[in-house]
Amino acid sequence: MPVILRPEIAALVPYRQGRPAAADAFKLSSNENPFDPHPAVLEAIGASSVNRYPDGAAVVLRERLAERMGVALDQVHVGAGSVAILQQLSAAAAGAGDEVLYAWRSFEAYPGLVTVAGATSVTVPVLADGRHDLEAMAGAITERTRVILVCTPNNPTSTTVTADEFAAFMARVPETVLVVLDEAYGEFVTDAAAAEGFGLLVRHPNLVVLRTFSKAFGLAGLRVGYAAGPAYILDAARSTAIPLSVTEPAQRAALAALDHEEELAARVATIVERRGRIRDGLRAAGFDVPEPQGNFVWLATGAHTVAAAEVLERHGIVARVFPPDGIRVSIGEEESVDPLLRAAAEVVAMLREEA
Ligand SMILES: Cc1ncc(COP(=O)(O)O)c(C=O)c1O
Repeated sequence: MPVILRPEIAALVPYRQGRPAAADAFKLSSNENPFDPHPAVLEAIGASSVNRYPDGAAVVLRERLAERMGVALDQVHVGAGSVAILQQLSAAAAGAGDEVLYAWRSFEAYPGLVTVAGATSVTVPVLADGRHDLEAMAGAITERTRVILVCTPNNPTSTTVTADEFAAFMARVPETVLVVLDEAYGEFVTDAAAAEGFGLLVRHPNLVVLRTFSKAFGLAGLRVGYAAGPAYILDAARSTAIPLSVTEPAQRAALAALDHEEELAARVATIVERRGRIRDGLRAAGFDVPEPQGNFVWLATGAHTVAAAEVLERHGIVARVFPPDGIRVSIGEEESVDPLLRAAAEVVAMLREEA
């Protein structure tokens, strides 16, 4: 007889990672930072004493983050990637019989995290242009709603929630419901109208803002994310966390990255500039690309998604494929731009033929 597992866990599809690329292809499937690690980061990792446990409270890193954000130490939490904090917050606020509300399509880890917490996902389709339908989301709040995840820029559509939309939305959310603003790609946002979480914390006592070192800071492999919000909510997240999971090399690397923030911001600016050229090229080719604000663009290829991804692969572009909705392509190396645009032109020609 097999061991009895929780049926909802046994039925879960494991988290799908972005596909690795062949040596001669570009891996644009995981929204990673294409730049090599900063030398100071490598030096910091090398200086770590890995025979010792890390500081489980990550005090030095949290102090540094608290100072940057102008909040108290206990209003900052760090986790082994922001996805770990998402899991902790879900587990802390939602259990059996509770609902977690989010837009769909959004970050593909959300459904699994909710199921693991024992709660139920309630999803609201994104609008035709890939943006959150915050009106409909506010309307979907019930007495059982415990957590609302708002992803801006939204993975995979790269669209933002505006400050005005978010304010109107928060006015309709009961203060007893936790709202998590997932800003994993916040550093890539250039639209001045977009909501920006840290400044909103003073206004909303039920808000937690999530950021990560994985994307703009280029530390995806080391796993460090952070949250800012009310201390008692973050304490609850800390209580659910696996102890000591943010390693010392990761803490040191994050501090080194903050020491060199200006240089890393210049890399972000390069990615943003490249994003603009890719957006323009895709639109010129005939793609109706939503205004991208993350380090990725969204191709709404619909029923032709798998065929379109095959065309991209023939041009050496490995992207993230979400049939039957579309394809998310990360902004990668400069050398990937031309093959991507050539592939996109071929996809448009294919779509026109099939129309
Ligand atoms: C929207 C969003 N949130 C959170 C994460 C998690 O990032 P990490 O755990 O590396 O901080 C990702 C990663 O792709 C993401 O796309």
